[in-house]
Amino acid sequence: MSDEDVQLEARLAEQEVFEPPESFVEQANVTDEGIYDEFEENWPECWEGAADLLDWEEDYDQVLDDSNPPFYEWFTDGTLNASANCLDRHLDERGDEAAIEWVGEPVEEDNITYTYEELHRKVNEFAAGLREMGVGEDDVVTMYMPMIPQLPIAMLACARIGAPHSVVFAGFSADALATRMNAADSEYLVTCDGYYRRGDPLDHLDKANEGLSGVDHEVERAIVAERLMDGDGFDHDYADNQVAFEDVIADNEGATVDPVDRDAEDMLFLMYTSGTTGKPKGVKHSTGGYLAWAAWTSQAVLDIKPEDTYFCSADIGWITGHSYIVYGPLALGTTTMMYEGTPDYPDKDRLWDIVEEYEADQLYTAPTAIRAFMKWGKEYPEKHDLSSLRLLGTVGEPINPRAWKWYYKHIGNEECPVVDTWWQTETGGMMITTLPGVKDMKPGSAGPPLPGNDVRIVDTEGEEVEPGRAGYLTVDKPWPGMLRTLYKNDERFINEYWAEYSDTDSDDSDDWVYFPEDGAKIDDDGYITVLGRVDDVINVSGHRLGTMEIESAIVGVEGVAEAAVVGGDHDIKGEAVYAYVITEDGYEEDEELRSAIIDGVEDAIGPIARPEAVIFTPELPKTRSGKIMRRLLEDIANGEELGDTSTLRNPDVVSDIETKVQGD
Ligand code: WT7
Repeated sequence: MSDEDVQLEARLAEQEVFEPPESFVEQANVTDEGIYDEFEENWPECWEGAADLLDWEEDYDQVLDDSNPPFYEWFTDGTLNASANCLDRHLDERGDEAAIEWVGEPVEEDNITYTYEELHRKVNEFAAGLREMGVGEDDVVTMYMPMIPQLPIAMLACARIGAPHSVVFAGFSADALATRMNAADSEYLVTCDGYYRRGDPLDHLDKANEGLSGVDHEVERAIVAERLMDGDGFDHDYADNQVAFEDVIADNEGATVDPVDRDAEDMLFLMYTSGTTGKPKGVKHSTGGYLAWAAWTSQAVLDIKPEDTYFCSADIGWITGHSYIVYGPLALGTTTMMYEGTPDYPDKDRLWDIVEEYEADQLYTAPTAIRAFMKWGKEYPEKHDLSSLRLLGTVGEPINPRAWKWYYKHIGNEECPVVDTWWQTETGGMMITTLPGVKDMKPGSAGPPLPGNDVRIVDTEGEEVEPGRAGYLTVDKPWPGMLRTLYKNDERFINEYWAEYSDTDSDDSDDWVYFPEDGAKIDDDGYITVLGRVDDVINVSGHRLGTMEIESAIVGVEGVAEAAVVGGDHDIKGEAVYAYVITEDGYEEDEELRSAIIDGVEDAIGPIARPEAVIFTPELPKTRSGKIMRRLLEDIANGEELGDTSTLRNPDVVSDIETKVQGD
C-alpha cells in the first residue's frame, strides 16, 4: 500500500459518521429533512403520497382502517392492478425503454433486454395461457424457478389475473416445495427444466417432480420453462399435465388480457418464511398497501428514477427480489437488472463487470456478499469503471463497520451513500434506514426509522430502554406494506407477531404493537443498531432458517436420537449451522452418520441449511426443567468464555462438548 492508501485507511477506520455526498444530495429524490416531522404530524394521511405513486382504478375512501387491529386495512375500497401499474401505464412514455435487463450465466452470449412493450406482451400472453388452463382469481400459483425471465413474467401474469403467486426459492428442496404447495392448496406450478450454476447445467425438473409427488391434492398443471441449451438437457418426459412455458406463450401469441380490478386489500402474493416452529409461515401481502410501500421506499431510499439502471443482486425467490427487483422498480418505470449467476463466476469480478457494462446507477446487495468481496480483494473492483454508481444498499443482516467502509470506499469511491436497510419478509419493504439525501450515515447502525414509522426499543415488559442498552425492537404503528395475516391462520399471526407486547383483548389500535423478533439498541440521536434475531431463527448469508426445521430434519435420519441446532459465527455467512447430535444406541458416531445427517438436511430444506459442523455428544446441556440451553451451545460453537453453568442439570456435559468442538 502507498502512504496515501495507509493514511486513507486509517482515516476511514476512525470515522464514525459520514455525511451524504454532495453530488448525491444535489439530485436526490428526497432532500427535505422536514419529511420526518411532517409525516409524524400527518399520520396516517402521510401515506397518501405513497399511494399517489400508483394508478388506481377506483379511488380509496380511507387511508387506514384500524377498527379491527391487528387486521389493518389500507387504502380501503380502492382498486388497482399491480401488473397494470408495473407495465401498462409506462407504455406510452417508456414502451421502448428496457424494463428488465436479464444477464445470464455466460453459457452463450444470450443476455436479453425486455422493453416495457415486450414485457407487457409476454405477460399478457402468459396471463391468457393461465386463464385458459383454468387459473381463476385468488387461485394460488406456485413458482419454483431460479433467476430466469420467465419468473417475473409469470409473477406479473398472475398479478394481472388476480391470482396470488407463491414463489419458492429454487435452491429449496423438493420437500420444501411440497410443504408449501400443500399449505397453500396450490394447484398450479410454474417451474423449469434446469439452469446453470458456475457454468454447469443443473437438473431442476427432477426435483420439481419429486416435490409434486409429495403434493396431497391434485395438481392441475405444471408449466416448465426451458432454460437449458440443446444437448444440456436432462431426459425429461413431460407428464400429461405438464406443458412448456414457451408453448403457452406461442399458443397465445398476441393475446391481451384486461388487468383484473383488485381491491387494495386483496392478496397479491404469499411468501413462506421460517419461524420458530417447524412449519413455515405463509406471509400474506396485499395489493395496494404492499405495492405503494415497495414503490415509495424504492423511490425514497434507493433513489430510483425512471431513467436509472438499477441492480439488486438478490434472488427473486426471497422477499428482497419481490419488492426490489420486480414490484418497486417496475412500478416506478425504471430498468431493473436480473442476474442469473453467482458473483464469482467466471471470475470474482463478475458483478463489477456487469455494473460497468450496464452502467448501473444503484447496487443493492447483502453483507455476506460484501464480506466475500472484501476477502477476494479490492483488485477485482479496481479492474472496472464503477463510476456510474450513485447509491449502494445492503440488506439481510447486520453489516459490520469494516465491511460497510470497504463497500463505501472500494465500490462507491466515497461518492455513494450506503443505505443499510432493516426489514423483513413480513414488513413488505424497508422500515429502518437512512434517507440517503438527508441523513448522515453511521456504519453498523441501520439508521432512524423511515418517516412515519414508529419504532421503539423495549424491555421484556414493553418499557422503552435507555439509549445504548440492548432491548427488543417493536413497531408501534401499522404501515401500508405490512403483512395482512399468515395465510389461513389468523391465530398464529396474532401469536407470532403481536401477542408479546399487545393488549390482545383491546380493539384500540394504540394497544397493539408489532414484534419482529429482533434485538436492537438505539443511540441518543435515534439511530438503531439491529443486533439480530431473538427467536430460534438463524440468519445464514442473509437467509432465515428455523432451527426447529433443521432439527426435525436431523432427527429424521436413522441413528439420530436427539439434535439441537444453533447459529455459530461465520466470517462470510454471518452465521453458520452448528448441529449437536446424540446418536441412538447401537449407532456409531462416524463419518457415515455425519454425511447422512448433512444429506438429510439438504433433502429436507436445501443446501443453504447444510450444517457447517455436526458435533456428536452423549448429552445436550439442559436446565433442570429440561430445556436445552441453546445459548451455551452457541457460546461453545463460537469458542467463547462460558458463563454460569450451575443451573444445568448436567453441567459436566459442557466441557465434554467443548473438547469435541475444539478438537474438530
Ligand atoms: C431478518 C428478516 C429483508 C429482506 C431480507 C431478509 C435480519 C434484515 C437487516 C439489516 C440487521 C437485518 C433481521 C430480520 N435483517 N435486514 N439491515 N440489519 N438485520 O428477510 O428472511 O424475512 O429476514 O433479517 O433479523 O428480522 P427475512
